Amino acid sequence: MKNRIERIFEKEDEDIDAIVILNSTKPHVDLTFYYITGLIQGEFEGSGVIAYPDGKAEIMTSRLEEESAKKADMPVHTISKTDEREEWLNEKLDDLNKIGVNSSELTYSAYKKIRGSTDAEIVDVSDSIAETRNIKDEEEIERLSEACRIASKVAEEMTDFIKPGLKEYQVAAEISYRMKKLGATADAFDTISSSGPNSAEPHYTSGNRVIQEGDFIVLDFGALYKRYRSDITRTYIIGEASDKQRRMYETVLKAQEAALDMIKPGVEGSKIHEVAQEVIDSTEFEGYFTHGLGHSIGLAIHDGSGLSPNVDVVLQPGMVYTVEPGIYIPEFGGVRIEDDIVVTEKGCDILTDANKDLTVLG
Ligand code: GLY
Ligand code: MN
Repeated sequence: MKNRIERIFEKEDEDIDAIVILNSTKPHVDLTFYYITGLIQGEFEGSGVIAYPDGKAEIMTSRLEEESAKKADMPVHTISKTDEREEWLNEKLDDLNKIGVNSSELTYSAYKKIRGSTDAEIVDVSDSIAETRNIKDEEEIERLSEACRIASKVAEEMTDFIKPGLKEYQVAAEISYRMKKLGATADAFDTISSSGPNSAEPHYTSGNRVIQEGDFIVLDFGALYKRYRSDITRTYIIGEASDKQRRMYETVLKAQEAALDMIKPGVEGSKIHEVAQEVIDSTEFEGYFTHGLGHSIGLAIHDGSGLSPNVDVVLQPGMVYTVEPGIYIPEFGGVRIEDDIVVTEKGCDILTDANKDLTVLG
C-alpha cells in the first residue's frame, strides 16, 4: 500500500518536485507535519518536513525534539541556531522547479522564508492534503477508536457525578481529569459544559452558572489520544423532564438515527445532513437545528470536511465523521446528541458507544 506521502502526490496533476511543510509557533504548527512523520511526541515549533513523490521525506528540527524526531522512519536534520533553518531550506529547495505548500496552515512569514530560498514555482497542495487526510488508515482508526473509547467511558461515568448545585466549570474540570486518568494527553478541544439557557448556544464552553433542577445539561467533549481527537455530546435533564424537553430529546435522537442509517460509501455528505434536517423540520422544532450535521475528525477536531449542505464530499470507507444533530431554543435550552463514526465497506461503525437513552439526573 502507498504511504501517506505518495497518496498526497497521487492527487496532484502537477509535476511537483517536493512538498514543504514549515511550522511556525503554536498554534501555527501544521498538523500535516504529524501526518507525514507519524510522530506522537514533540511540539516541533519552527520545524519542517520536506516530502518527495517517491514517498521519502526528511525532517528538520532543533535539539529540543531531536530524539523524538528520530522515531520517524526518515532522516533528521538537526539545527542548533535559527538561521540554520534558512540554510536547510536553501540547500533543499534551491534547484527545484516546483514546490507544493499547504496554504491552509502555512503562515505568511513561513511562506516568505520558503519564497526567499528558491526561484521555484510555489503551488498550493492543500486540497490534496485535506482529501488524503480525510481517509484514515488503519493506524489512524486505531488511535481514533481509543480516543472515542475514553470519551465514551467518561460520558457514562459523568451521570453519577452531575447534580444540582455544581457549577458548569466543575463538571468540565471533572471530565478533563477523568479522560486524562484513562490515558488522554489532553482535551481534544475546550470542553462544553452548558446548563439551562446556556445549552441553547451550540459553542458555549463553560462558565460559573450553577446547575439547577429542570435544566438541560449539554456535555460536549473529546479526548486527545496519540494526537487523534474524539468528539462526543450527551445531553441530560436535571431533576424532572418536562414534556417539551422530552419531545426535543426524542426528536434529536430520531434525527441522529435517520442520519446514521443512511451512512455508507457513495452517499453525498450533504444528503445525510438533509435527512436529519428534515426529521427536525417536520416537527414543532422547525428551524431550530442551526448548524451542519457533522465534521471530520482526526489530527484536528474539525479535520477539513463535513456532513453539511455546503461541503461537497462523497463518502468513502475510512472517512471518520461526527453525527451531531441538535435543537437550540434561545432562553429555553438546547439538546445535542453526537457520536463519531467510521465509514466501512457496507455502512458505518459507531466509535462512541455511551448510552443515549433519555436520562434524568439528580
Ligand atoms: N464539539 C465541538 C464542535 O463540534 O464544534
Ligand atoms: Mn463536534
